[in-house]
Amino acid sequence: RQDLIDQARAVLERNDRGSYTVPTHGLYPFQWNWDSALSALGFAHFDEARAWTEIETLMAHQWEDGMVPHIIFHQNDDGYFPGPDVWGTQRDVPTSGITQPAVTGFAVRRIFDRASDRAMAERRARALLPRIHAWHQWFYRDRDPAGTGLVAILHPWESGRDNSVDWDDAFERVPTDGVGEFQRRDTSHANPEHRPTDEQYKRYIWLVQHFRSLGWDNAKLHDASPFQMVDPGFNAILIRSCSDVADLADHLGEPEIAEQSRAFAAKGIAAMEKLWNVSLGQYSCYDRSTGKLIDSASIGGLLAAFCAIPSARAKAIAARITTLANAARFTVPSHDPTAPEFDGTRYWRGPVWLIVNYMISDGMGEAGQMSVRDRIRDDSIRLIEESGFAEYYDPKTAEPCGGGSFTWTAAMVIEILS
Ligand code: DGY
Repeated sequence: RQDLIDQARAVLERNDRGSYTVPTHGLYPFQWNWDSALSALGFAHFDEARAWTEIETLMAHQWEDGMVPHIIFHQNDDGYFPGPDVWGTQRDVPTSGITQPAVTGFAVRRIFDRASDRAMAERRARALLPRIHAWHQWFYRDRDPAGTGLVAILHPWESGRDNSVDWDDAFERVPTDGVGEFQRRDTSHANPEHRPTDEQYKRYIWLVQHFRSLGWDNAKLHDASPFQMVDPGFNAILIRSCSDVADLADHLGEPEIAEQSRAFAAKGIAAMEKLWNVSLGQYSCYDRSTGKLIDSASIGGLLAAFCAIPSARAKAIAARITTLANAARFTVPSHDPTAPEFDGTRYWRGPVWLIVNYMISDGMGEAGQMSVRDRIRDDSIRLIEESGFAEYYDPKTAEPCGGGSFTWTAAMVIEILS
């Protein structure tokens, strides 16, 4: 155990660039939004100050409207595509123009609760609180213009689950005309069989070009996007962060932030009920452009358990995870191993990811589903013991996939074992 923790710490230290960490050398040479928030949890176990810095660096690049971008290009690196010239967001320190799962509120609350340096934690959490709250307000303003209680993502990269089966049908409606030639760089760092396809990349880039042509004006992007997806996992992370910010705001004496955050969370949880998919026995994505639930048995619908869903729903999710676990050697697969689209090594179409395991197991624990919680945690550590600190793993063979020496995988190991 201690040996694994030491190895995990060495991964974090290797990927540390001083005030931020890269997810892994080569494949991802900049700061990523939710990678940083989750990685800070790992740092907090051995260097609290460094954990706060990670999150402060991320939030320092928040846009004026409240959006927090998914990539911050702190320094030049030709090894990644699409780089700053493709995004064209016109910022002093270049960033991408889309966001990522808002797990920062959760991370800050957890680091705060466990902090041994209480004075530092109070000071640094207090400074971060209004920024995180502004990000949440941005979400409910610009990504839920009709006030449904649930926000939409406009690009698969926002969900983090880039090539999930969930987007396949909707992606048919995203054109590729005029995208032009480009050179992918990810496939020179990682096995192309583990990565999204070229067809998917053309559509990823078409969306980037489309949003850029609208000047990255967030007041316009939602309605102008052919891809508007309500992802239960993405919403659950945001809802959980709103609840955590509410508790933190109570503690720090910020009643207005507490009240509004609690209202966001309550409305969100009530609205999640619309994403319950009876035929799958789990939550699923809702395509806002077509007004239909998507029959895709992905992990997005299980990650919903990260927020305070009703206990009957949590129980059903626990049963569903047990079924999936019995169809693979390691849980939780990012797509149902019995579904025809399942692909055990291709990014989000089957592999296990430790960060999602961590969030689902946390939700299972909160819901009192202890045996499922423990099974997920045990499987996660078994994967590391067999295959090291990879980006993701084949749920049947434990084959390590994607990038190696991966920061957030290591951070989750420290979280689980400490
Ligand atoms: C990538 O480049 O694969 C990322 O997931 C996009 O953020």
